[in-house]
Amino acid sequence: MARAVLVTGAGSGIGLATAHLLAQRGYRVYGGVRREEDGVRLRGLGVEPLLLDVTREEDLLRAREALAEEGLYALVANAGVAVAGPLELVPLPAFREALEVNVLGAFASVKAFLPLLRRSQGRVVLMGSVSGLVALPLMGPYAASKFALEALADALRVELLPFGVRVVLVEPGSVATPIWERSLRRAEGYLEPPPPGTEGVYGRYLETARRLAQRSAQRGLPPERVAQAVREALETPHPKARYLVAHPARARETLLLRLLPPGLRDRLVARFLGA
Ligand SMILES: NC(=O)c1ccc[n+]([C@@H]2O[C@H](COP(=O)([O-])OP(=O)(O)OC[C@H]3O[C@@H](n4cnc5c(N)ncnc54)[C@H](OP(=O)(O)O)[C@@H]3O)[C@@H](O)[C@H]2O)c1
Repeated sequence: MARAVLVTGAGSGIGLATAHLLAQRGYRVYGGVRREEDGVRLRGLGVEPLLLDVTREEDLLRAREALAEEGLYALVANAGVAVAGPLELVPLPAFREALEVNVLGAFASVKAFLPLLRRSQGRVVLMGSVSGLVALPLMGPYAASKFALEALADALRVELLPFGVRVVLVEPGSVATPIWERSLRRAEGYLEPPPPGTEGVYGRYLETARRLAQRSAQRGLPPERVAQAVREALETPHPKARYLVAHPARARETLLLRLLPPGLRDRLVARFLGA
């Protein structure tokens, strides 16, 4: 019987590309979606939809029950939101949502499906980001959530070794998905007005954020590249702890920024911000 895989956040972008690729590879793929209409699209691609909001425990328990008999080989914890903006203007509920979905949602998903993954000695793939390696300005809440996911992956990878469950973190750079447009639209709704006297600085920042988001949406890697990394993480006998999936220049830049002394790093980053 085909191995079963669950991909959360499979309605668009990287999750959709991953679910589709894995279905083409012969897995029995379950795709988590929050709207019935996204499920219809998935069915057309050979993916079985499951209504699943990763912040809702009852959804996770229902999904586990649905899969209990068949079993589960892999969980791809992909669901995520990009909460961005200059930190002073980000309200707490928006920041909380980034952590709620990207960190606790991933954690809750792992917790819910671990009994099945232990049985299959299966795999967990967490969808990290280069933002979990280097926190750039204007991406504070998102980067904080992805840094947290790095910690979660490191702890979980070793804790689950005795059970034969492998944990892999995929770290994409910019990928052309709806996340960027969504992030801008959401930010317009939640960002607080700049305090008096700061409008000039924050106005420039917001312009930069818009430009960068548009560039990522247009020039980002195709989501199928990330899907291929997930496939590799599921199929290779000895998966790596991390798969960085980025344009080679962006990957080099990320690794360099991590090595530079903070003063130099900040000057370089500030220049790109126009600060
Ligand atoms: N695009 C990039 O450049 C990039 C780079 C690095 C990492 N990533 C990561 O890749 C993952 C997928 O992002 P994407 O770029 O493919 O963006 P996307 O197209 O916006 O996909 C995000 C998916 O997550 C789902 N989602 C959001 N909140 C959820 C919740 N509470 N419960 C269940 N599903 C939820 C969304 O469903 P709805 O449609 O219902 O909102 C959507 O299907 C995210 O974890 C993201 O951080 C993306």
